[in-house]
Amino acid sequence: MVSLVVVAVFLLWGTVFLPPQAGGFKITYPDASLSHQEITEAAILLKTAEVCRDIAKAQGKDFTLPMNNKLTADTVQKACSISNSDLSTLVNFRLTIFLICSYNRAVDRKQFSDAHHFDNEAFSSGRDLITQGITNVKVSLKEGNYISAQKSLGTVTHTLQDFYSHSNWIELGYTDPYSTLIKANEPLSNIAGSKTVTCKSCVNDNCTDNILSEVLQQKTLTSGYFSLDPRYNKPAGKCSHGGTLDFTSYKDPTGGINKDDVKSEHGFLHLKAANVAINATMELLEDIRKAAGETAFLRLMGLSRTIMLVFVIDITGSMSNDIAEIKKVSISMIDNRKGTSEEPTDYMLITFDDTGVQQTRISDIDKFKEKINSLSASGGGDLPGMCLSGLLMALTRAPPSSDIFVFTDGSAKDTELKSTVGAMIESTESIVTFLLPTSISSRGERVSDSQNSSSSLMTQSELQLYRDLAHVSGGQTLEVTNTTLSEASTAITDTFTSGQVTVFQVSRSAGNAGNFSFLLDSSLSNVTVYITGDSTVFTIYSPTGVSQSYSMIDGSLGSIQTVGNLKKIKLKSDNTTGEWGISVNSTSSYTMKVIGQSSVDILFNFVEMSLGGHGDSWGQIFTRPSIGQNATLSLSLSGGELATVTDVLLVDASGSSVVNGTVTLVGGTDYLVSLNRIPEGEFGLLLKGLLNSSLSSSRFQRQSSIYHKGSRIALTVDTQTTTIPGVSFSFNFTVATNTTAGNYTIRARTSNGFTVTVPSSLNVATGGSVQGTGTLTVPSNTESGTDVTLIVEAEAPGSTDLNYATVRLTASATSIKFSGLQSFSMFLSLIGLFVSLLL
Ligand SMILES: *[C@@H]1O[C@H](CO)[C@@H](O)[C@H](O)[C@H]1NC(C)=O
Ligand SMILES: *[C@@H]1O[C@H](CO)[C@@H](O)[C@H](O)[C@H]1NC(C)=O
Ligand SMILES: *[C@@H]1O[C@H](CO)[C@@H](O)[C@H](O)[C@H]1NC(C)=O
Ligand SMILES: *[C@@H]1O[C@H](CO)[C@@H](O)[C@H](O)[C@H]1NC(C)=O
Ligand SMILES: *[C@@H]1O[C@H](CO)[C@@H](O)[C@H](O)[C@H]1NC(C)=O
Ligand SMILES: *[C@@H]1O[C@H](CO)[C@@H](O)[C@H](O)[C@H]1NC(C)=O
Ligand SMILES: *[C@@H]1O[C@H](CO)[C@@H](O)[C@H](O)[C@H]1NC(C)=O
Ligand SMILES: *[C@@H]1O[C@H](CO)[C@@H](O)[C@H](O)[C@H]1NC(C)=O
Ligand SMILES: *[C@@H]1O[C@H](CO)[C@@H](O)[C@H](O)[C@H]1NC(C)=O
Ligand SMILES: *[C@@H]1O[C@H](CO)[C@@H](O)[C@H](O)[C@H]1NC(C)=O
Ligand SMILES: *[C@@H]1O[C@H](CO)[C@@H](O)[C@H](O)[C@H]1NC(C)=O
Ligand SMILES: *[C@@H]1O[C@H](CO)[C@@H](O)[C@H](O)[C@H]1NC(C)=O
Repeated sequence: MVSLVVVAVFLLWGTVFLPPQAGGFKITYPDASLSHQEITEAAILLKTAEVCRDIAKAQGKDFTLPMNNKLTADTVQKACSISNSDLSTLVNFRLTIFLICSYNRAVDRKQFSDAHHFDNEAFSSGRDLITQGITNVKVSLKEGNYISAQKSLGTVTHTLQDFYSHSNWIELGYTDPYSTLIKANEPLSNIAGSKTVTCKSCVNDNCTDNILSEVLQQKTLTSGYFSLDPRYNKPAGKCSHGGTLDFTSYKDPTGGINKDDVKSEHGFLHLKAANVAINATMELLEDIRKAAGETAFLRLMGLSRTIMLVFVIDITGSMSNDIAEIKKVSISMIDNRKGTSEEPTDYMLITFDDTGVQQTRISDIDKFKEKINSLSASGGGDLPGMCLSGLLMALTRAPPSSDIFVFTDGSAKDTELKSTVGAMIESTESIVTFLLPTSISSRGERVSDSQNSSSSLMTQSELQLYRDLAHVSGGQTLEVTNTTLSEASTAITDTFTSGQVTVFQVSRSAGNAGNFSFLLDSSLSNVTVYITGDSTVFTIYSPTGVSQSYSMIDGSLGSIQTVGNLKKIKLKSDNTTGEWGISVNSTSSYTMKVIGQSSVDILFNFVEMSLGGHGDSWGQIFTRPSIGQNATLSLSLSGGELATVTDVLLVDASGSSVVNGTVTLVGGTDYLVSLNRIPEGEFGLLLKGLLNSSLSSSRFQRQSSIYHKGSRIALTVDTQTTTIPGVSFSFNFTVATNTTAGNYTIRARTSNGFTVTVPSSLNVATGGSVQGTGTLTVPSNTESGTDVTLIVEAEAPGSTDLNYATVRLTASATSIKFSGLQSFSMFLSLIGLFVSLLL
């Protein structure tokens, strides 16, 4: 029988890589070369398929990959979940591969040491980086910190893969990986001495024979020297990396030996090197799998994930009439998800009153339900509570993309946190739903409705705060009575079924009627329209011209349920494909959202492009983009093998298109989108494309569920990425602004509640930039591998603008030695020098 690996390699070669054998160890995909991304992806797909096959075999089950199909994230995920029912169906293997590859890419943007790229014969320090990186992955896995582990894995694979391009391993005739690189204790042998001459100049740009024959005969290991600095002199007789950016390659011996892509000096060996790099990456993955076990390995790959359900509950005295119902509703939400692919692996309860906030995190479902049942509402009377502090704690402590439900009947006391909470929602992409057991006067006066609900007092504007925050996250604000709370929570439970996608959403102010249209495609099922707002009136139109008004509870297009301020329209399943219309009006501000289930969804991130020594690259940015400036998005279509993206638009909350992006396919289902400017105010992403099936092709659309914002403040945080427990360290950050001059409020916190100190304000001039220094202390009892997210914020005077920057750090008991690490600013100044030399 043919082994799985051989078959899979064949499939990969036959489909994924031919055509368009793109990108090299190069990051982009300009020619017939393999990129770091493709190497990493191929290794992950092959190794994951192997792990799933072994699990299936051990359980006496069949494991089959679709033979006539491509080996892709989707086909491997499908094969794994068929043979292993424990694997959640709502997982994002594709997203995980994307994240690991972005961390791999980031090495070219952020890490300029020889060791990170095996340049300048830095074999020993390069190997140290690899073995330390592997240890970090294992430690993080042991602690259950999958995001940290993915980051360490991405980083370490880059260095490992660079060895095969930048050293002469392939030229020495080896076809297997150099296993010593992933083992800390084995000696590295046959390394060229610092005085050993290794290369001669290339002949008229022909570098076929530039490595000295004695080096080849004695199997001496060397690597190319590299420098962006024309003043740098490499040691006599050493090989260069090569390429136009490498100034050492113009000096004797000229030329280079890198195999980054097919056009490199040793491009004739590119595919050989890339193939050995795939096997080397698989060997590293096998080492991790052996140490961590198969379950942890699959979690690392995103084939099952941490799902956290978070409740933020107001326990001030005014909630006493509602608390019984809230307990019932929360417990039924917990029970509803039990046994489904959406069953949480962790729960968090945050309670607040008018004086403070408390947090409990529990994995055991029964213990958590007990905790909920023990709640009582007696704190602090009817005063406004610390609602936003509670929500902020939830956002910083829960993993990204968590579901957060906030129950409160009163206004927030800590409204000054609004912009911070909004920024945290953006950076975590968590969905926040407010359940407000209250009634309010539509004229905006305070109303006590103790006769039918609670004794809460909330005005329209106080309520608007919650509506605004829910809106930014793509969540909803349900204003209900204590008797309809349970019905309301059931009505929105569908929002959390697996494979749920957002097709369209808008939000408008009171009386601002709108006619909207959206496309439903054949991949969608269970399409539901949610409208929130008081006294909303609407009419919905099908593609075939049939209409149904809000008063028709069971009409030809769908059934309409009303709870509190929510209207839910469940569309019938026949003939839904095509362009739908809906006209809506309301006496208060309203939101409209169309969701459905589909395997075709979008993932996107703002990225920063950079010119690096080893090719163009991009990496995710964890800060708001600059208003008025251009920006780039990296976008990935999941489940979208047959889909193509045609338009990517930025839309404002009211649904108007504000910026039309330029879309470039960079490989597979990944795109880069250039935006010529970031608009003022918040914006969502609306994507349009074509869905090709064997029978026909139809148009489709998706919208991001969260809204983003730009800023005129630029905030950059410059910090090491590992931290030693018990040792304080300083980091520098820079605040630059194009808006109001004055004292900018600075705030910083970590996801773990560790102590961070920063200056409380910095005085910044318009167009100027100021540097500040902060200090972070990770307590000495913090376990190695703990993931620490540092969030720094800068807010303009008068709260007119705010930007944030988030940085992920890993607590690691042993520090990594960096040899010859150049600082980023030095790198930039060299790039500047290079550019000025060209001009
Ligand atoms: C480069 O040189 C090698 C021998 O040194 C020769 O075989 C090869 O044909 C040359 N290639 C080109 C493109 O001239
Ligand atoms: C990679 O490993 C597989 C399985 O061990 C082997 O069949 C294949 O030839 C190797 N590829 C290279 C380029 O060495
Ligand atoms: C609840 O109070 C509102 C006024 O705040 C009133 O309009 C409504 O009829 C009351 N409902 C019940 C069931 O008493
Ligand atoms: C709803 O609130 C009223 C008082 O306003 C209370 O009498 C009633 O028990 C509450 N209902 C539930 C189901 O908690
Ligand atoms: C929408 O409602 C507002 C007040 O509720 C009303 O003034 C306006 O005329 C309505 N617009 C349309 C188009 O019906
Ligand atoms: C639609 O939703 C129902 C439950 O509301 C579920 O049973 C069904 O499987 C869903 N359909 C699809 C295609 O997922
Ligand atoms: C769906 O469309 C087909 C053809 O357009 C039509 O024959 C059929 O009656 C429609 N079904 C419904 C439920 O509208
Ligand atoms: C963005 O603008 C800068 C200068 O304003 C320009 O150099 C750069 O090429 C632009 N980038 C894109 C992707 O348009
Ligand atoms: C976006 O721009 C492209 C190319 O200029 C154009 O074809 C397309 O119609 C535009 N899309 C929208 C929705 O304006
Ligand atoms: C300020 O404006 C300049 C010129 O338009 C631009 O290069 C810079 O990136 C802007 N800075 C911020 C923080 O938006
Ligand atoms: C912060 O910047 C100053 C100079 O601007 C530099 O001397 C110092 O080393 C930097 N600190 C860190 C932790 O990078
Ligand atoms: C900024 O803060 C400093 C010190 O806190 C103070 O002296 C200065 O007056 C403030 N400037 C403004 C414009 O508020």
